[in-house]
Amino acid sequence: MSFKGRIRRLDDKLERVKAVRGRTREWPVDPVEFCVQYLGFTPTIYQEKLLRDPSQFIVARWCRQSGKTHCVAVLLLWLCLRNRGFNVLVLAPAVRQSKIIIRKITGFLSRLPKYVALKPLKTKIEFYNGSRIQAFPNSPETIRGEPGVNLLYADEFSYIKNDKELYEAAIFSLATTNGRFLATSTPGSRESMFYAMCTDDVNYGDVSRHHVSYLDALEPKGPLKLEILEKLKRQFSSDPWRWRREMEAEFADDQDSWLSMALITRCVDPKLEYIREGAILTGSGPVDT
Ligand SMILES: Nc1ncnc2c1ncn2[C@@H]1O[C@H](COP(=O)(O)OP(=O)(O)OP(=O)(O)O)[C@@H](O)[C@H]1O
Ligand SMILES: [Mg+2]
Repeated sequence: MSFKGRIRRLDDKLERVKAVRGRTREWPVDPVEFCVQYLGFTPTIYQEKLLRDPSQFIVARWCRQSGKTHCVAVLLLWLCLRNRGFNVLVLAPAVRQSKIIIRKITGFLSRLPKYVALKPLKTKIEFYNGSRIQAFPNSPETIRGEPGVNLLYADEFSYIKNDKELYEAAIFSLATTNGRFLATSTPGSRESMFYAMCTDDVNYGDVSRHHVSYLDALEPKGPLKLEILEKLKRQFSSDPWRWRREMEAEFADDQDSWLSMALITRCVDPKLEYIREGAILTGSGPVDT
């Protein structure tokens, strides 16, 4: 190895030791500044609002492709860097979906100095300062044992089967840390906890609520392209309820439909994995996402 290479490795090691001892660089106090300075992108106005929201309980009812995963990935990463020993749990309708956020954060990590985190796994990222982010399956039994959680994040919360059971198994892990709960989703069933948290002012009056329709997320305000959305809206004209849910992020049930959203959500099997056609033909296992 060259002299320069050896110096770089030693420097890396030194920074790693500093990270373990909590004497790393000061990451920006403002998550928005962290995005711009370290990750090379500017959050949208509604992403900024979410990133800077200090509330203990937050629900974000945002339309499809508005940048939920992008924004939350930044938030989780920034929180883990800013706080030593910060413990994050990620829940989703299926573990395949909770792995997506881990993948996104892994992508962001490549822009940061090597010493901040150990080699990321598909379901877990561990930082040298003792913080960690873990993707969990939709299984109350597995979650129950996890101690001292600082942030519980539920993605597509409206579509998590047995959401109440999962929430109740997980939420008390915040009790000893005075931790926070964040859920993002497009609207699904009105029987969901997500619906209650978005609308019930008596039991969930202290939940901070964010709503983003496609109109708020069109370029240049967000990542959505007007041209294709106009076409999609026309295509969905026979199913306006679907459009209302997915793109206006409103709780809307098709009054003519045979199967309600509540029934469809109850029928989702979180254990199912996608299998590619090629994998079936070659006899290999499910797709590892
Ligand atoms: N502030 C931003 N600047 C640039 N690109 C962005 C920004 N926010 C999101 N994007 C891009 O927009 C696309 C959609 O983002 P993302 O996957 O986070 O959306 P989502 O709301 O989670 O989508 P889905 O509803 O499918 O889960 C991605 O390609 C992402 O990189
Ligand atoms: Mg997403």
